Amino acid sequence: MSLAIITGASSGIGAEFARALCREGVDEFWFVARRRERMEKLGEELGVKYKVIVADLSDSAGIANLRATLECEAPKVDYLINCAGFGSFGSFDQLAEGEVARMIDVNVKSTVLITHMTVPYMKRGSRIVTMGSGSCFTPLPYFNIYSSGKVFVLHYTKSLNYELKRYGIRATCFCPGWVETEFLGKATAHENVTRPRPSAMKPLLNCEKVVRGCMRAVRRGRTMYVTGWYTKLQHLLFKLLPDPILTRLWLLMLENKDEEKKL
Ligand SMILES: NC(=O)c1ccc[n+]([C@@H]2O[C@H](COP(=O)([O-])OP(=O)(O)OC[C@H]3O[C@@H](n4cnc5c(N)ncnc54)[C@H](OP(=O)(O)O)[C@@H]3O)[C@@H](O)[C@H]2O)c1
Repeated sequence: MSLAIITGASSGIGAEFARALCREGVDEFWFVARRRERMEKLGEELGVKYKVIVADLSDSAGIANLRATLECEAPKVDYLINCAGFGSFGSFDQLAEGEVARMIDVNVKSTVLITHMTVPYMKRGSRIVTMGSGSCFTPLPYFNIYSSGKVFVLHYTKSLNYELKRYGIRATCFCPGWVETEFLGKATAHENVTRPRPSAMKPLLNCEKVVRGCMRAVRRGRTMYVTGWYTKLQHLLFKLLPDPILTRLWLLMLENKDEEKKL
């Protein structure tokens, strides 16, 4: 028996990790997110043993749900896939305080706390995946909270991987460019905020393909996996060019900057 816990399993990259791990022989899953029906549908699709943990990870009660289940069942965890997350475009003052706090709570705080509570149930050979992003290599005005949170996750994962190596546990930070999921629809849902032009976010990466690539990187015990030729090029430029130039290039991709001037 092998067990994977996947946060953000109700759609996109998290659901795709469930499919990929199922193909690799994982036969029990704990799915964590808010939309119960979506996770039940995924469990039925995979035909595996699964548990649905409905939890809002922006809220400490949601995180406590998972902690209580871990303490009660004391499982052996083979994979922890931290996929829950969202991003909102817009200038710092266009975003409501609650939105800013939720972004940090889900993308950063829940990733750290869930990993912290799960590691004691892991063993030699267990694997952790955290979600970074192609946006975590440089400052990105108007996507500030999201991209800054992903920088945290990247550094956190690299250090975690180092610390857990002695127990035979490896951690990989997955950094894709724009992937075709529900993410972008939600990220651009607010009217008139400063955000990239839709054409600047193309080509969108195929979710199944990038997850398959990430699983190869996980098997090899890599600390970071950057995918998509465009994102790999960006990653190289991030190392070569100074931040002000990179930021200017990013600003060229944005629309609705006039809204900003009205503030
Ligand atoms: N798509 C991209 O272009 C892209 C690129 C780089 C990195 N990423 C990262 O990849 C991860 C997955 O995103 P995705 O592209 O698969 O987007 P998605 O299809 O929107 O999936 C996001 C997942 O996170 C869960 N989630 C969001 N807020 C939550 C909350 N408060 N509590 C619990 N679960 C919550 C959602 O579940 P419920 O709504 O059911 O709660 C959903 O399962 C995110 O961390 C994102 O930052 C995405």
